[in-house]
Amino acid sequence: MQRRDLLRTLALTTAGLTVLPAFAKQNFMRDIAGPGYTRGDFGNDFLWGVATAAYQIEGAWNVDGKGPSIWDTFSHTKGKIKTKETGDMACDFYHTYKSDIDLIKEMNMDVFRFSIAWSRVLPNGTGEKNQKGIDFYHNVIDYCLQVGVQPWITLYHWDLPQALQDKGGWPNRNTYTAFCEYANMVTKEYGSKVKNWMVLNEPLAYTALGHMIGMHAPGKKSVGKFLRAAHHTALSQAEGGRIIRANVPDANVGTTFSCSDIDPLKEKPKHQRAAARVDALLNRFFIEPVLGMGYPVDTIPGFKGIKKHFEPGDEEKLKFDFDFIGIQNYTRELVKASIFPPVMWAWQIPADKKPVENIEITDMNWEVYPEGIYNVLKKFAAYPGIKKIIVTENGAAFTDTLVDGRVHDEKRTKFYQDYLAQVLRAKKDGVNVTGYYCWTLMDNFEWAEGTRPRFGLVYTDFTTQKRIIKDSGLWFKDFLRK
Ligand code: FCB
Repeated sequence: MQRRDLLRTLALTTAGLTVLPAFAKQNFMRDIAGPGYTRGDFGNDFLWGVATAAYQIEGAWNVDGKGPSIWDTFSHTKGKIKTKETGDMACDFYHTYKSDIDLIKEMNMDVFRFSIAWSRVLPNGTGEKNQKGIDFYHNVIDYCLQVGVQPWITLYHWDLPQALQDKGGWPNRNTYTAFCEYANMVTKEYGSKVKNWMVLNEPLAYTALGHMIGMHAPGKKSVGKFLRAAHHTALSQAEGGRIIRANVPDANVGTTFSCSDIDPLKEKPKHQRAAARVDALLNRFFIEPVLGMGYPVDTIPGFKGIKKHFEPGDEEKLKFDFDFIGIQNYTRELVKASIFPPVMWAWQIPADKKPVENIEITDMNWEVYPEGIYNVLKKFAAYPGIKKIIVTENGAAFTDTLVDGRVHDEKRTKFYQDYLAQVLRAKKDGVNVTGYYCWTLMDNFEWAEGTRPRFGLVYTDFTTQKRIIKDSGLWFKDFLRK
């Protein structure tokens, strides 16, 4: 099962079924000649970067005083990771950060987006600090600044301290308070050096996959837990923004959202309504409360229960005027009306079952659909109050083979070229998109999928920790050369 197929998985979970993954195998030769645009077409101020997440790259899971996170617990639990791996070592970035940051520079990227592992700096989630963990991020930041790469920090990319999970995790309102303490601590610690911050990575992904579907840490399967986790997450999202702005002089404050272009299977009212419900969950659920529009529960009445978890004043607390929002797009969803799963009554058709001619599918069973990023950029830019958009993640997993020390990843190169053409189109159509960050720097631990799906611009040999810049990375290096 692939994690972006949220509803399909929810339905199967509800039905107590499991299915084997089915990957479409396609062989196509792609023309990877020049894309027809240059770096200059995006403008001189446009930022180019790579994005990563602490748990997916750092390893050193119990080194130098780090406390366990829910992802340590989850990956150590039998049956949770498809490949039976853990993130204990991942890319060992904790020890290789200098040479990895050198690779970012070598590819002529401006920005390194990374996240802080909360339990590395506050092993119990609150209270006592871990100086060695704090020093590690100082070292990463200092090295970025030394070589001329901008550090962009995500406060939370899914690895909640296990100590907080033991007290109920995100469904417990105290986790919101703990998050504020953590955000306050790290922004004061690093705020004099780092100006660019993102509060959360894809709130919908970790609240839904972790609390309703059970496919990600902490592995819960309850609509009630999802709604509580979602509300405390949305409060943290806005309050995190306020904390950054208060503690970091001249901060550029953002947060990120997972976004999918969504089409009904057919232009029939029942499928259109199903697509609207999926849109409300996948695209609207976390951005609308920030903008003062509330949760989109009129479209999904089954989630109205979220209002039970409001305390007086919460309506206001959910709002914040972010300087930018991060859009993270990989694919598009084709949706049909269905009796499963309940609440959504909608079915996301898996990519390998979509009635689409010549469909291209990645190793995540996600459809390659470049126009999707254009549509999503237009959609989010249309909300009143959006000042700036950055594509904080976009990329693709394809099977890579090492041949004589090279990785000829034509499909990934073509993917980037086609998606970038659509980003440029949106920019020309007036969307204020000011940066583009690839997912990801190097092949890493792809959550419940293990290390099988390779998303990197750089190839990781997980046995030796050797890195090789793939052809896609070399293409960026050349494209970005000033
Ligand atoms: C995004 C996550 C990122 C990575 C990519 C493939 O949803 O933010 O950590 O897993 O998908």
